[in-house]
Amino acid sequence: MIRTYSHSDYGCVLKVYAAVEKVSPWIKLLPFGTSERYVHSEIEKVIASPKSCFLVSLQGESITGFVQAQQFKTFVEQEVPHLAHLLQQYGDGTYVRNILVRPEQWKENIGKQLLVEVKRQGSAQFLVTRTHPDNSRGIKFFEKTGFREMFKDEFAARVYFSNL
Ligand SMILES: CC(C)(COP(=O)(O)OP(=O)(O)OC[C@H]1O[C@@H](n2cnc3c(N)ncnc32)[C@H](O)[C@@H]1OP(=O)(O)O)[C@@H](O)C(=O)NCCC(=O)NCCS
Repeated sequence: MIRTYSHSDYGCVLKVYAAVEKVSPWIKLLPFGTSERYVHSEIEKVIASPKSCFLVSLQGESITGFVQAQQFKTFVEQEVPHLAHLLQQYGDGTYVRNILVRPEQWKENIGKQLLVEVKRQGSAQFLVTRTHPDNSRGIKFFEKTGFREMFKDEFAARVYFSNL
């Protein structure tokens, strides 16, 4: 089952981050890793963004994963304005900010279902995302679900993908 995030899910979302961090060395290369400060700021940014979507997946009562998405245009304006000229043609997309599934449930189609639902709920025709170039698992997942690399930001060590 997939439903919208509520404040009472916060502790479970933190646990998903912690479980993923244990097996994903690339996360440590991000500025704040998955510290509570980082998790909190990501949630605040999504909730404050126009046309945002924050979904959790459940098995019974347990949260198995989540996806956070928002308008790509707003993300570019607020967080990577220096790349606006390169990303302009993707302005109408929905930006998948974070998608995480508990490692015990990887390869059970949960990530794919979260992507399908985020696209269904949003008004955009296509999704855009980015990840660290060392995240080979994440990159394979995006390629398997129809994304293609569109741009490498070597300065910030990020690869951008879209399913346009
Ligand atoms: C990336 C992630 C969300 C994928 O979630 P998941 O639930 O395991 O993915 P799914 O089971 O829905 O897989 C969807 C497709 O991708 C493929 N896939 C997923 N992980 C893969 C991997 N490591 N290697 C090859 N293919 C992979 C699946 O086989 C499936 O393809 P299929 O439909 O042909 O069978 C999960 O591995 C994760 O949480 N990783 C850490 C966080 C992360 O990297 N997030 C992305 C960047 S923010």
